[in-house]
Amino acid sequence: MKKTVLVTGGFGFLGSHLVEHFLKEGFAVVAVDNFCTGSRSNLEHFKAEISQGRLKAIEADVSQTWDSWVGVLESLPPLSFVFHFASPASPPHYQRLGLETLAVNSIGLGHALKTADRFGARVIFASTSEVYGDPSVNPQPETYWGNVNSFGVRSCYDEAKRFGEALIYTHNQKHQTQHGLVRIFNTYGPRMNPADGRVIINLLLQAEKHEPMTLYGSGDQTRSFCYVDDLISGIVKYARSNLTRPINLGNDHEFTISQLAETLQTIYTDRKLEIKHLPLPQDDPKQRKPDLTLAKRLLSPWTPQIQLREGLIKMRACL
Ligand SMILES: NC(=O)c1ccc[n+]([C@@H]2O[C@H](COP(=O)([O-])OP(=O)(O)OC[C@H]3O[C@@H](n4cnc5c(N)ncnc54)[C@H](O)[C@@H]3O)[C@@H](O)[C@H]2O)c1
Repeated sequence: MKKTVLVTGGFGFLGSHLVEHFLKEGFAVVAVDNFCTGSRSNLEHFKAEISQGRLKAIEADVSQTWDSWVGVLESLPPLSFVFHFASPASPPHYQRLGLETLAVNSIGLGHALKTADRFGARVIFASTSEVYGDPSVNPQPETYWGNVNSFGVRSCYDEAKRFGEALIYTHNQKHQTQHGLVRIFNTYGPRMNPADGRVIINLLLQAEKHEPMTLYGSGDQTRSFCYVDDLISGIVKYARSNLTRPINLGNDHEFTISQLAETLQTIYTDRKLEIKHLPLPQDDPKQRKPDLTLAKRLLSPWTPQIQLREGLIKMRACL
């Protein structure tokens, strides 16, 4: 067996893809989750790995002490990475779980750093494009410091992630460690939580059920959408580098939400997809597109491969 990776939030959308990636590479994997937004079904296809002891599933809140379960790492091959991906990620979830979101990206991340240091491993923290807030520059390079409301409905998430970045920076300075973080832009793919409220899963499920697709505001706001396989390959490359600076990961093709709806219409050729407009939520960013210059240079030859229509078709096949 190769080494071990620990994935917090391992039963979530992105966490489960990381678990899958490292199991396929032959690693032992520990997936820790409290199931506040994740689902047991996300890893149910790994029953064999669980019975072989190669995948350890632990139910725990990583914002609480890790003492009761962290000892499991002593019986496994050496720990190389801790992917700290536990956190509610979509506005309806992090607004419902605001205090938990603040805790998991600060106290939970602190536990991840302490454990990684104890075992000589590297933490990779899931930061987000939300650290740029409602950006006044487009696309957003890593050098842009953001336009964030610290006192509003999105601040429990945006500021928690900004705090997490500051914690990694300061921890590295103080302890001469090499922990890192990736700023993830909108990612989609199989195993997204259907109740999650993010635009792709919402529209796809509405199209699937012959319901009108809900577009917030005029539909002119832009987003860039990354298929999960592209994101995971970027995260893995980053983890294996010695980079500690923030790197944007996502897809730099920008679409309006109306164009997303039109793309879905080209896939659902057997039906006419109706559109229903709803008011724009508070603090909703008007545009979001990563500047991937740094990622493409420092993680070379990484670049997103899967374009929107192809990714939507793949995701639909897994519904
Ligand atoms: N999906 C995206 O487009 C995106 C974009 C930017 C950043 N991110 C970040 O990536 C990470 C994963 O996001 P996702 O889309 O997979 O969301 P998700 O909700 O599917 O997964 C998060 C997982 O973390 C678990 N979790 C939450 N709090 C926990 C706690 N205190 N203890 C243990 N487990 C806990 C949840 O149950 C869930 O399984 C998050 O940190 C999120 O902020 C995601």
